[in-house]
Amino acid sequence: MLSAVSFAPLGADVAFAQDDNAAVATRLADLLRSARTVISTNQGLINDPSKGDKGLTGERVLTEAIALYTERTGEDPRDSDPASREGRLLRAQMEAIQEVVEENQSTINVEGVGFKGFIPAIFARLVNEKFGERVGDEARIKVTAPEELVRNRKARPDEWETSVIEDKFKAAQWPKGDPFSESVQVDGHPAFRIIVPEYYAASCLSCHGEPAGDVDITGYPKEGGKEGDLGAAISITLFE
Ligand code: HEC
Repeated sequence: MLSAVSFAPLGADVAFAQDDNAAVATRLADLLRSARTVISTNQGLINDPSKGDKGLTGERVLTEAIALYTERTGEDPRDSDPASREGRLLRAQMEAIQEVVEENQSTINVEGVGFKGFIPAIFARLVNEKFGERVGDEARIKVTAPEELVRNRKARPDEWETSVIEDKFKAAQWPKGDPFSESVQVDGHPAFRIIVPEYYAASCLSCHGEPAGDVDITGYPKEGGKEGDLGAAISITLFE
């Protein structure tokens, strides 16, 4: 029996490992997106100047994010095996989601202020930073964008991300929404990298839309983007 295993073609093993990497990374991207949607759905509540305590606790945001993820994927992230890599990483991400909301309660609950700057992009960055503090030697998640659109320097695409964005995602023949993945070295370690393009929706344009240069509610100049333009990319690294 053992010899049968050793006769398995190496290519099959490698392909299997890549499928597994892609599956884990996709789940992490989906859970991040679900949590971001929860913040977006509750943006009106967060921005309500007439309310103090909003009841938007870390636990509530996580519960809503899990519900949305389960609806979208048919899987509950809490059912993953906690001893597996996927289970470990999803749990680290769930904890990060809850903690970021908990740490920002005083901002969210301030009375008399409308826009508080607690928006999906900032929330996602904080979640990804916290995730990295926990499991950064195993996995990293970053939301980036084409270089000319980047607002926060921490979100700047690295060389690999830039080459995928410029040469693949911006190519006319690239199928919209298709991710790109590759096994490469990151900081001297072998890693699986995957990057998923995202496009501006109408809801993004109050800040990222036209006219370019006009200052948005957050104080940044608008990028002049249009609905459907490539505006973002979720970049995930899994160390082997
Ligand atoms: C209320 C204004 C606002 C809206 C609406 C908004 N964004 Fe942003 N976005 C920002 C701000 C401010 C930042 C900088 C966040 C930070 O400091 O990390 C940002 C950052 C980003 C980033 C990270 C890269 C960077 O520039 O730092 C991406 C990608 C992004 N936004 C895409 C989108 C997309 C896609 C949508 C719609 C689904 C959207 N944004 C909606 C204000 C907004």
